[in-house]
Amino acid sequence: MQKDIGSVMGLYPTPVTVVGLVTEENTVNFLTIAHVGVVDHGHLLVSIDKAHEISDKGIKKHAVLSVSLVNQSMLVSADYCGIAKAAATDKSAVFNYHMDELEYAPIIDEAPVSMTCKVVDSIVAGNFTNYILKPVHTYVQEECLNERGKIDYEKADPVLFEFQSAQYLTTGKVIGKCWVMGKAYKQQ
Ligand SMILES: Cc1cc2nc3c(=O)[nH]c(=O)nc-3n(C[C@H](O)[C@H](O)[C@H](O)COP(=O)(O)O)c2cc1C
Repeated sequence: MQKDIGSVMGLYPTPVTVVGLVTEENTVNFLTIAHVGVVDHGHLLVSIDKAHEISDKGIKKHAVLSVSLVNQSMLVSADYCGIAKAAATDKSAVFNYHMDELEYAPIIDEAPVSMTCKVVDSIVAGNFTNYILKPVHTYVQEECLNERGKIDYEKADPVLFEFQSAQYLTTGKVIGKCWVMGKAYKQQ
Protein backbone atom coordinates (compact mmCIF):
# COMPACT_ATOMS: atom_id res chain seq x y z
CA MET A 1 0.00 0.00 0.00
CA GLN A 2 1.46 3.40 -1.02
CA LYS A 3 1.18 6.50 1.13
CA ASP A 4 0.91 10.01 -0.41
CA ILE A 5 3.64 12.11 1.25
CA GLY A 6 2.62 15.27 -0.62
CA SER A 7 4.27 17.27 -3.38
CA VAL A 8 7.76 15.98 -2.73
CA MET A 9 10.58 15.96 -5.27
CA GLY A 10 11.34 12.26 -5.27
CA LEU A 11 13.67 12.04 -8.26
CA TYR A 12 16.75 10.88 -6.35
CA PRO A 13 19.45 9.67 -6.14
CA THR A 14 21.38 11.86 -8.56
CA PRO A 15 25.11 11.78 -9.28
CA VAL A 16 27.29 14.04 -7.17
CA THR A 17 29.48 16.26 -9.32
CA VAL A 18 32.08 18.92 -8.72
CA VAL A 19 31.83 21.83 -11.13
CA GLY A 20 35.16 23.53 -11.84
CA LEU A 21 35.27 27.05 -13.18
CA VAL A 22 37.30 30.24 -13.36
CA THR A 23 35.85 33.32 -11.68
CA GLU A 24 35.67 36.86 -13.08
CA GLU A 25 38.83 37.55 -11.04
CA ASN A 26 40.58 34.65 -12.82
CA THR A 27 40.77 32.36 -9.79
CA VAL A 28 39.81 28.69 -9.98
CA ASN A 29 36.77 27.63 -7.95
CA PHE A 30 35.07 24.29 -7.30
CA LEU A 31 31.49 23.82 -6.11
CA THR A 32 29.44 20.68 -5.57
CA ILE A 33 26.38 20.23 -7.77
CA ALA A 34 24.05 17.24 -7.54
CA HIS A 35 21.07 18.65 -9.43
CA VAL A 36 22.30 17.48 -12.79
CA GLY A 37 20.74 15.71 -15.73
CA VAL A 38 21.07 14.33 -19.22
CA VAL A 39 19.27 16.61 -21.69
CA ASP A 40 19.86 14.57 -24.83
CA HIS A 41 22.57 12.16 -25.97
CA GLY A 42 25.04 15.02 -26.41
CA HIS A 43 24.13 17.53 -23.71
CA LEU A 44 23.88 17.69 -19.93
CA LEU A 45 22.47 20.14 -17.43
CA VAL A 46 23.77 21.57 -14.16
CA SER A 47 21.41 23.58 -11.99
CA ILE A 48 23.16 26.40 -10.14
CA ASP A 49 21.62 28.73 -7.59
CA LYS A 50 22.06 32.40 -8.59
CA ALA A 51 23.04 32.99 -4.95
CA HIS A 52 26.40 31.35 -5.82
CA GLU A 53 27.18 34.68 -7.42
CA ILE A 54 30.95 34.32 -7.84
CA SER A 55 30.61 30.91 -9.52
CA ASP A 56 27.63 32.00 -11.59
CA LYS A 57 29.34 35.14 -12.90
CA GLY A 58 32.50 33.16 -13.73
CA ILE A 59 30.47 30.63 -15.75
CA LYS A 60 28.65 33.43 -17.58
CA LYS A 61 31.91 35.26 -18.36
CA HIS A 62 33.92 32.32 -19.73
CA ALA A 63 31.02 30.12 -20.95
CA VAL A 64 33.00 26.98 -20.16
CA LEU A 65 33.29 24.77 -17.06
CA SER A 66 34.19 21.25 -16.03
CA VAL A 67 31.88 18.63 -14.56
CA SER A 68 33.55 15.80 -12.64
CA LEU A 69 32.05 12.68 -11.14
CA VAL A 70 33.03 12.07 -7.53
CA ASN A 71 34.27 8.73 -6.17
CA GLN A 72 34.43 7.76 -2.51
CA SER A 73 38.02 8.90 -2.03
CA MET A 74 37.09 12.40 -3.24
CA LEU A 75 33.93 12.65 -1.14
CA VAL A 76 35.23 14.62 1.86
CA SER A 77 36.78 17.21 -0.48
CA ALA A 78 33.65 17.29 -2.64
CA ASP A 79 31.38 17.78 0.39
CA TYR A 80 33.68 20.59 1.55
CA CYS A 81 33.24 22.31 -1.83
CA GLY A 82 29.50 22.16 -1.15
CA ILE A 83 29.87 23.85 2.23
CA ALA A 84 32.60 26.48 1.73
CA LYS A 85 31.64 29.62 -0.21
CA ALA A 86 33.89 31.22 -2.80
CA ALA A 87 33.14 34.62 -1.22
CA ALA A 88 34.92 33.57 1.97
CA THR A 89 37.21 30.70 0.93
CA ASP A 90 39.81 30.03 -1.74
CA LYS A 91 38.90 26.48 -2.86
CA SER A 92 41.38 26.40 -5.76
CA ALA A 93 43.74 23.99 -3.98
CA VAL A 94 41.10 21.45 -2.90
CA PHE A 95 41.80 19.36 -6.02
CA ASN A 96 44.78 19.05 -8.32
CA TYR A 97 43.81 20.26 -11.76
CA HIS A 98 45.05 21.17 -15.19
CA MET A 99 43.49 22.92 -18.18
CA ASP A 100 42.96 21.85 -21.78
CA GLU A 101 42.40 24.18 -24.73
CA LEU A 102 39.13 25.47 -23.23
CA GLU A 103 41.46 27.29 -20.79
CA TYR A 104 38.84 28.11 -18.14
CA ALA A 105 37.55 24.62 -17.28
CA PRO A 106 39.80 23.05 -14.60
CA ILE A 107 40.03 19.26 -15.06
CA ILE A 108 40.22 17.49 -11.68
CA ASP A 109 43.19 15.13 -11.92
CA GLU A 110 41.90 12.60 -9.37
CA ALA A 111 38.31 12.43 -10.71
CA PRO A 112 37.25 9.13 -12.28
CA VAL A 113 35.51 11.12 -15.05
CA SER A 114 35.97 14.83 -15.76
CA MET A 115 34.30 16.58 -18.69
CA THR A 116 35.29 19.98 -20.04
CA CYS A 117 32.13 21.59 -21.37
CA LYS A 118 30.93 24.61 -23.31
CA VAL A 119 27.80 26.42 -22.14
CA VAL A 120 25.41 26.31 -25.10
CA ASP A 121 22.23 27.55 -23.44
CA SER A 122 20.68 28.34 -20.09
CA ILE A 123 17.18 28.14 -18.67
CA VAL A 124 16.25 30.13 -15.59
CA ALA A 125 13.85 28.38 -13.21
CA GLY A 126 13.13 30.35 -10.04
CA ASN A 127 16.44 31.20 -8.42
CA PHE A 128 18.38 28.62 -10.43
CA THR A 129 20.21 28.90 -13.72
CA ASN A 130 20.10 25.57 -15.51
CA TYR A 131 23.14 25.57 -17.76
CA ILE A 132 22.93 23.33 -20.83
CA LEU A 133 26.40 22.01 -21.55
CA LYS A 134 28.10 20.33 -24.48
CA PRO A 135 30.99 18.12 -23.35
CA VAL A 136 34.06 18.87 -25.48
CA HIS A 137 36.52 16.44 -23.84
CA THR A 138 35.81 13.59 -21.42
CA TYR A 139 38.82 12.49 -19.38
CA VAL A 140 38.59 9.06 -17.74
CA GLN A 141 41.05 7.28 -15.45
CA GLU A 142 42.49 4.50 -17.60
CA GLU A 143 41.64 1.86 -15.00
CA CYS A 144 37.98 2.91 -15.29
CA LEU A 145 37.84 2.05 -18.99
CA ASN A 146 36.78 -1.40 -20.20
CA GLU A 147 38.38 -3.33 -23.06
CA ARG A 148 36.07 -1.54 -25.54
CA GLY A 149 37.23 1.89 -24.33
CA LYS A 150 33.89 2.59 -22.60
CA ILE A 151 33.53 3.90 -19.06
CA ASP A 152 33.15 1.03 -16.56
CA TYR A 153 30.84 2.56 -13.93
CA GLU A 154 31.47 -0.20 -11.39
CA LYS A 155 35.13 0.84 -11.47
CA ALA A 156 34.41 4.59 -11.68
CA ASP A 157 32.19 4.10 -8.60
CA PRO A 158 30.40 7.48 -8.76
CA VAL A 159 28.82 8.64 -5.50
CA LEU A 160 25.10 9.49 -5.50
CA PHE A 161 23.12 12.09 -3.52
CA GLU A 162 19.63 12.22 -2.09
CA PHE A 163 18.03 15.37 -0.67
CA GLN A 164 15.29 13.85 1.52
CA SER A 165 17.74 12.77 4.21
CA ALA A 166 20.76 14.69 2.82
CA GLN A 167 22.98 11.64 2.39
CA TYR A 168 25.37 10.01 -0.03
CA LEU A 169 24.94 6.53 -1.49
CA THR A 170 27.18 4.20 -3.44
CA THR A 171 26.28 3.16 -6.97
CA GLY A 172 26.26 -0.62 -6.58
CA LYS A 173 26.67 -3.51 -8.97
CA VAL A 174 25.60 -4.16 -12.53
CA ILE A 175 22.35 -6.17 -12.34
CA GLY A 176 21.34 -6.57 -15.96
CA LYS A 177 21.58 -5.50 -19.57
CA CYS A 178 19.34 -2.73 -20.95
CA TRP A 179 17.18 -3.60 -23.95
CA VAL A 180 17.78 -7.29 -23.17
CA MET A 181 16.08 -8.03 -19.81
CA GLY A 182 12.69 -6.90 -21.13
CA LYS A 183 12.69 -9.65 -23.71
CA ALA A 184 11.90 -12.10 -20.89
CA TYR A 185 8.68 -10.17 -20.02
CA LYS A 186 5.53 -12.28 -19.96
CA GLN A 187 2.02 -10.76 -19.70
CA GLN A 188 0.41 -11.84 -16.39
C1 LIG B 1 25.84 17.26 -1.96
C2 LIG B 1 25.62 18.69 -2.36
C3 LIG B 1 24.92 18.97 -3.50
C4 LIG B 1 24.70 20.29 -3.91
N1 LIG B 1 24.00 20.53 -5.05
C5 LIG B 1 23.80 21.80 -5.46
C6 LIG B 1 23.11 22.05 -6.67
O1 LIG B 1 22.70 21.15 -7.38
N2 LIG B 1 22.94 23.35 -7.03
C7 LIG B 1 23.40 24.38 -6.30
O2 LIG B 1 23.23 25.56 -6.68
N3 LIG B 1 24.08 24.18 -5.13
C8 LIG B 1 24.30 22.90 -4.71
N4 LIG B 1 24.98 22.66 -3.55
C9 LIG B 1 25.44 23.80 -2.74
C10 LIG B 1 26.74 24.43 -3.23
O3 LIG B 1 27.70 23.48 -3.62
C11 LIG B 1 27.33 25.29 -2.09
O4 LIG B 1 26.41 26.29 -1.69
C12 LIG B 1 28.68 25.88 -2.38
O5 LIG B 1 29.26 26.28 -1.17
C13 LIG B 1 28.66 27.06 -3.34
O6 LIG B 1 30.01 27.38 -3.61
P1 LIG B 1 30.51 28.79 -4.20
O7 LIG B 1 30.13 29.87 -3.22
O8 LIG B 1 31.99 28.59 -4.26
O9 LIG B 1 29.87 28.97 -5.54
C14 LIG B 1 25.22 21.36 -3.14
C15 LIG B 1 25.96 21.07 -1.97
C16 LIG B 1 26.16 19.75 -1.58
C17 LIG B 1 26.96 19.44 -0.35
